[in-house]
Amino acid sequence: MIPIRHKNAISVGGFFKVRHLLKIGSTNDFLKSLSTDESRENFVVVADEQTKGKGRLSRKFFSPKGGLYFSILIRPNDEAVLNSLTALAAICVCDAVEKVCGDSASVKWVNDVLIGDKKCSGILVETTENLKGFAIVGIGVNIGDGKVDESIKDIACGVTKNGRDTKWKLLAAILENFKNLCTNFDRKKIADEYKARCSTVGKRVRVVPNDGNEYFAVAEALDDDLRLVVRDDNGDVRSLYSGEVRIVF
Ligand code: BTN
Repeated sequence: MIPIRHKNAISVGGFFKVRHLLKIGSTNDFLKSLSTDESRENFVVVADEQTKGKGRLSRKFFSPKGGLYFSILIRPNDEAVLNSLTALAAICVCDAVEKVCGDSASVKWVNDVLIGDKKCSGILVETTENLKGFAIVGIGVNIGDGKVDESIKDIACGVTKNGRDTKWKLLAAILENFKNLCTNFDRKKIADEYKARCSTVGKRVRVVPNDGNEYFAVAEALDDDLRLVVRDDNGDVRSLYSGEVRIVF
């Protein structure tokens, strides 16, 4: 496992350079504010708390002290890596949560990691022209023996705390997985692993597309590009590339 010395953590097997902050608005925004040159490749920022943690679709990501909030600045060497980053990060988190915390984790399409039917982690990948070929992979994990703030307890949970260093062990395990999957990039392997981890297939869902025209459907499969294939209530099959689905219980 990559050794990480917490508090001013720097030692990360020579691959990642990690900066530890006590408090920041958003670790993704912090990385965006840096000038991007080669020396920034594989730079990681981790914060004890975020005051403006961001999720997909302009949502807030609740980020109080105790959780793990970090972002990785990477420079994908081809389009396939860039397009796989959310899936790649999701499987890294699932594996790390299982190894470090002993919780069985699954992926909810497209970017959530669940324990049972509650979200323990979210992933936000961002690219902008200003980033000059770099991408930011932001990952937040709620930690705390199933517990989260009262305001989100119906939909979210925390991974099991396994000793005082759970956060740092999780960070090390996720980064190690990330490094391995990026340096030996295999698109099919990532797609297969994501499919095996995805608990959305087979579920009845409410589809919330970006245009806001919601409809009910059954999630039937993931295709090789990890689009979610759903059959709506009229029997029409549609492939979803983005947007969101909510599981209907
Ligand atoms: C989501 O649930 O839609 C994605 C949540 C991503 C949260 C992480 S926490 C670290 C990084 N900084 C942010 O502001 N967001 C990501």
